[in-house]
Amino acid sequence: KILVLDFGSQVTQLIARRVRECGVFCEILPCDVDPERIKEYGASGIVLSGSHQSAYEESTDRAPELVFNLGVPVLGICYGMQTMAMQLGGKVEAGTVREFGHAQIRAHGHTKLFDGIQDETNEHGHGLLNVWMSHGDKVTELPPNFKLMASTPSCPIAGMADEARGFYAVQFHPEVTHTKKGKEILARFVRDICGCKGDWSMPSFVDEAVERIRAQVGTDEVILGLSGGVDSSVAAALIHKAIGDQLTCVFVDHGLLRFKEGEQVMETFAKHLGVRVVHVNATEEFMGQLKGVTDPEAKRKIIGKAFVDVFQREAGMRANAKWLAQGTIYPDVIESAGAKTGKATSIKSHHNVGGLPDTLNLKLLEPLRDLFKDEVRKLGVELGLDPEMVYRHPFPGPGLGVRILGEVKAEYAEILQRADAVFIEELRNTKATAKDAAAELCTEEQIGKSWYDLTSQAFAVFLPVKSVGVMGDGRTYEYVVAIRAVQTQDFMTAHWAHLPYSLLGRISNRIINEVKGVNRVVYDVSGKPPATIEWE
Ligand code: XMP
Repeated sequence: KILVLDFGSQVTQLIARRVRECGVFCEILPCDVDPERIKEYGASGIVLSGSHQSAYEESTDRAPELVFNLGVPVLGICYGMQTMAMQLGGKVEAGTVREFGHAQIRAHGHTKLFDGIQDETNEHGHGLLNVWMSHGDKVTELPPNFKLMASTPSCPIAGMADEARGFYAVQFHPEVTHTKKGKEILARFVRDICGCKGDWSMPSFVDEAVERIRAQVGTDEVILGLSGGVDSSVAAALIHKAIGDQLTCVFVDHGLLRFKEGEQVMETFAKHLGVRVVHVNATEEFMGQLKGVTDPEAKRKIIGKAFVDVFQREAGMRANAKWLAQGTIYPDVIESAGAKTGKATSIKSHHNVGGLPDTLNLKLLEPLRDLFKDEVRKLGVELGLDPEMVYRHPFPGPGLGVRILGEVKAEYAEILQRADAVFIEELRNTKATAKDAAAELCTEEQIGKSWYDLTSQAFAVFLPVKSVGVMGDGRTYEYVVAIRAVQTQDFMTAHWAHLPYSLLGRISNRIINEVKGVNRVVYDVSGKPPATIEWE
């Protein structure tokens, strides 16, 4: 396995991800972790990440010296290269220009890292690689025993190596997809240079995880808050596979879930998988507390707190439970680790339904802590969960509470659930066509995929305003439903989805005809920023 030492780059997680895509298990630790942990980890190779810091400054983070004395290969990326150069006796200086974006590097000599990997060759037969760079400072003097591995016109030392010790370093970012051969370079490092086999896969993860859970909890009882979301669902399925009836799931239904979601959760877990699930119908409690509240933040807080209260009450009834299982996944771990060590420069605000308090006095069981979202999905399918559920769009913790503008009422929730179900059904059933591609609504490769799969998140929003309409011979005065569909990579920024007009028309017709209380449907054409994805 491989260890990535994080110096706070925005793309550190991508390194771990790419390495795992090569079938090699990999974890990230902050660069200032106790060196003993690095030793204990027993990595076959270490990667030093990038950073926003300047390597030539005195006070900057360094790799623990031990890293260079373990006898395992080390790959420095960007800042990782610069600190490697500084620490091993080379020189780094502030550049006069920042280099950002695409660059073409020329390989020098033959190194194991680049051998045979190139996008093209120049007239002298030197390999050229199209890469992605993002740096201001650069290495200006090689450390002793290092040789030049790559250069660009503005960065004469863009790669260096001390092959005898297995030390390699590159100024560019092989982990981003803009570096076309990046994955091959990382695979070369972890497999050929570090000697990792590349046999890490989901089925082997399941076996290992089951063993680990059994060893960890023994004969103790475990409780888990099942939300219907992907992470908690997959955690439940995995833990159930490991310890069966020692697991009890508590499913708090706040009445603000998607259409028939409560039934589906019970159907999947209780009936199909045979998991012991306590279904707490807390709709009245939630609605009662939300009565008269219109402020979005206040609503969120109430929902979060009510959730914790209900869960705590249920947990309190299970006196034998020693463990609280959670569907914490790797990005959550990194985010909070980054927040603690101050390594990451920008930290996403966490907005999950209330973190459960320590007062429960339970030990934490988090079997998905090492996995990325797409790995969690693969695991879910491997464990027999319905792929349709596992690949669902994200759904916010406060549920429809943030999609019913202003005061939340059961009557509004019902209208919204139905409208949303129609919208999602149409997205799932409508495939992109050649005509859509011709109109540039999708690419050629996307033809045949459903619009559900071509959007990242889609939902209906209930607007508590009435507008005039005409149905049959009569005048109507009813509510408005907004529909929103966005495309995004990371949910931090998003485009509104350009859905075909015919599809929008059908959705509107069906909602107005099938959902009582609605006579007007509007489509949200705002990007994020300046709008957010949710309306509240
Ligand atoms: P915004 O509206 O901030 O949403 O653009 C970005 C993503 O986060 C989800 N979201 C939430 N998820 N609890 C959650 O678990 C929340 O309070 C919450 N608010 C927004 C939103 O659905 C989108 O995917």
